[in-house]
Amino acid sequence: MTAEQLQQGWTPRRVGRRVVTLSEIDSTNTTALDALAEPNADGLAVLADFQASGRGRQGRSWLSPRCASVLCSVALVQPQGQTHWPEARMGGYLTLVTAVATCEAVRSATEVTPTIKWPNDLLVDGKKLAGILVESRLTGDSGRGWVLGIGINCLQHIGHFPPELQEAATSLELAVSHGVDRLGVARQLLQALDVWLAEEPDEGKVHDAWSLFAEPLGRRVRLRRDGQEFTGRTVEVDPAGGLVLQCDDGRREWFDPMLTTAM
Ligand code: BTN
Repeated sequence: MTAEQLQQGWTPRRVGRRVVTLSEIDSTNTTALDALAEPNADGLAVLADFQASGRGRQGRSWLSPRCASVLCSVALVQPQGQTHWPEARMGGYLTLVTAVATCEAVRSATEVTPTIKWPNDLLVDGKKLAGILVESRLTGDSGRGWVLGIGINCLQHIGHFPPELQEAATSLELAVSHGVDRLGVARQLLQALDVWLAEEPDEGKVHDAWSLFAEPLGRRVRLRRDGQEFTGRTVEVDPAGGLVLQCDDGRREWFDPMLTTAM
């Protein structure tokens, strides 16, 4: 996969103006976070065929065989003059945008439409197809930079997943009846992110799009926050990505998408 192939046939406005493709790296998120210190980091996309230390949420590892997945991280630096949102709100917003763009990309490149499980797992037939890890770092000029990390399982067969994940994980290859074009999925991903992120943030628009792909509300879920578990029914997801849960013990609780794990 080369930068030229990924940029072919469209003109990036923000995401994908600079693309770096690597055959192997520790983590594309680490590379993109480090790049935030550079002057032209905004919109940089880093893609790798293999990660030696891919990171998932909550300190977990993200494993993928060589050339089997789209492993992509996008660096964003808040443009000067753009409304400066609180860190938590921006993190939630970017989590929703990334989930929507990833669903759109998968739908455009294949016949599959994933479902979003709050906050940011993409499922097909109830199994995990893709994961998203949004991270941030202070930049030199006291601003904040963000990295959107996306891993999409493309070409894995069931034996590629560790035994304990074989029931819970899937890939596009397992989900569709025709061959999967990993480059096409990656290109669509950059394009979809660019469409959303080249515009001023619009929480309402993103929230509406997110709701179309999301699991229906009213489902029973189990969440973990600060080492504590909560069970109950989902009530709503607000425009900043927070989830309101009607807990089994009668309380209503609000959950930050950046600080909560769905189990
Ligand atoms: C999760 O579901 O736990 C999030 C997984 C995110 C994985 C991607 S792969 C590309 C990028 N680089 C990383 O090290 N992690 C993210």
